[in-house]
Amino acid sequence: LTPQDCRDMRLLVTAGPTAEDADPARYVTNRSTGRMGVALAVKAARRGAKVLLIHGPMTWPVPPHAGIECCAVRSAQQMYDAVTARLPEHNAAILCAAVADYTPVAYSREKIKKGQESTFSLLLQRTPDILAAVGALPSRPFLVGFAAETHEVEANAREKLYRKGCDMLCANDISEAGSGFAVATNRVTVHLRDGSSIELPMQSKLEVADAILDLMLARWQQGR
Ligand code: C5P
Repeated sequence: LTPQDCRDMRLLVTAGPTAEDADPARYVTNRSTGRMGVALAVKAARRGAKVLLIHGPMTWPVPPHAGIECCAVRSAQQMYDAVTARLPEHNAAILCAAVADYTPVAYSREKIKKGQESTFSLLLQRTPDILAAVGALPSRPFLVGFAAETHEVEANAREKLYRKGCDMLCANDISEAGSGFAVATNRVTVHLRDGSSIELPMQSKLEVADAILDLMLARWQQGR
């Protein structure tokens, strides 16, 4: 029987990519499948947490579990609105979604016609940074962020941990084989606010999820 060591957690998880519509047929997105976020939701629920999974259009299925409530959104703005609305019910949050950084400035109700030119530009604007917004709240839940990087992984992760106001930041090198998008495994280094970091081995995303939950519980019991 799985120990119910997460039973005091009311955990909000974001997962998957977001899709930023340009017209009725086209959108901007990224390669996230949602698998890491689903693994976190599933493991936390099996360990007794009450989980709200706010997710973009994922290609990875969520296995049914009584402890997981799903909330499907599409765009970064919708994910921001859902997180903001539901956050007060939660005492922990893992923001794992690969939120699009930019969205089309204007949505065209009519399909954009191709022109005679050989190039086409689509003007994009920044989306709200959900993690930074949660991290800046005066009373925030225990907050875990992710960082997918291709270079300067350590330095970028540390900078993000402090700038976005997280308690923990999980960094993964998506240029490394077996780590990152659309694979079953991940190799994550967890950075903590006291300056320490824990290098987890390359393992399945389900095992990574368990290890992250273990570290969260340990920090939580120490009062962060
Ligand atoms: O800045 P960067 O996208 O690398 O940060 C990654 C972390 O921030 C992830 O935890 C991701 O879910 C979160 N994030 C967010 N909203 C954004 C961009 C990133 O919550 N608009």
